[in-house]
Amino acid sequence: MSEPLKQPQFPGSISTGDTLQSTSQPRGSETRALSEAVHAPPAERFPTYPTAWYPFGQAREIRHRPVSKDLLGRRLVAFRTAGGQIGVLDAHCSHLGADLGRGCVAGDTVQCPFHNWRYGVDGLCSHIYTGDLIPPAARQRSYPAVERHGLVFFFNGPEALYPLPFFDGADPDDFIRARPFGMTLRCPWWLVGANACDLQHFLGAHDRRLAGPAQVSCPTPYSRRASAPFAVVGASWRDRFTRWVGGPEVELSVTDWSGTMLFVTARFRRTRSYGLLTSLSLGRDSVFVRGIVFVKRSRFSLGRWLLDPVNLWLRRYFIKEFLRPDAELAARGLRYDPDRLLPCDDEMASYFTWLAQTTGGSDGGIAGWTEA
Ligand code: FES
Ligand SMILES: [Fe+2]
Repeated sequence: MSEPLKQPQFPGSISTGDTLQSTSQPRGSETRALSEAVHAPPAERFPTYPTAWYPFGQAREIRHRPVSKDLLGRRLVAFRTAGGQIGVLDAHCSHLGADLGRGCVAGDTVQCPFHNWRYGVDGLCSHIYTGDLIPPAARQRSYPAVERHGLVFFFNGPEALYPLPFFDGADPDDFIRARPFGMTLRCPWWLVGANACDLQHFLGAHDRRLAGPAQVSCPTPYSRRASAPFAVVGASWRDRFTRWVGGPEVELSVTDWSGTMLFVTARFRRTRSYGLLTSLSLGRDSVFVRGIVFVKRSRFSLGRWLLDPVNLWLRRYFIKEFLRPDAELAARGLRYDPDRLLPCDDEMASYFTWLAQTTGGSDGGIAGWTEA
């Protein structure tokens, strides 16, 4: 049975290319009527495992052998062929189900440890040791895979709906990354991207006071960009340092791809920070979030040796600390209930509507696949 992508429609949804100026001005004493309608989709509209790009892990993990992991409700194996190609396949062999992650790489294939069947990066079996004819069912699901910045990314569908994204208008080759950090949150995956649209929480959780209206646009059918100016008002040494180095205001911009990759740019007057948050659904109520901090590579070799590592370390530290309040609260549990959203949550409601409308996925298998 093929499983269609979910494409629900909701009132108030926005379409590709629309640019909206938020009504969420700083509010002062303004009180909005509770009777104002806030439309947000029910939780059932969100798939458990959205169709999107995900990091599999570090490329060096598969330098010498295949590696399998439990991801998105199934077991996947990644391997690098002798020719350097990256493959990501279902890990359980189509013969008797052995884990290909326990096998080895043989030329341009991964070899099953049980009876030595071999599969290419396209998932097709190319060799059966006994010389038997290869049956049509001797194939693994294969996933589009890309290596970038020393990480392996895969798309959980038969074809990528869009290329592996990066920061708007930026060339990945101009950037280097820091060591990723991770956190397991007890909340649905779709609350991760909503955090950037939760304008109320920035003051309480991050000491950032909203300083103007939010801007929202949808550059592509699968991405949504939200940005807003904030004043850095905290009294901690980190915020004082941030004001000294960067300036008193910051324009935060988040480009969200399918709710699973959030490219965050913080534009200060004198500097700019780049962070990627990837979220990997662990089920209906928990998600693993990985933070990856980037800096622009120095143009001179001395800078690459001396400045870039320090720059990366500092940015990683500050961004991780910036996210700490969210992470600590979400690690203790957050819930999604559209009926509890108030008019002041309208930015979040709009985000949920967009996400449910544009993100397909599944509750077990992989969307778009025909079950063998
Ligand atoms: S289980 Fe993989 S070849 Fe038999
Ligand atoms: Fe936050």
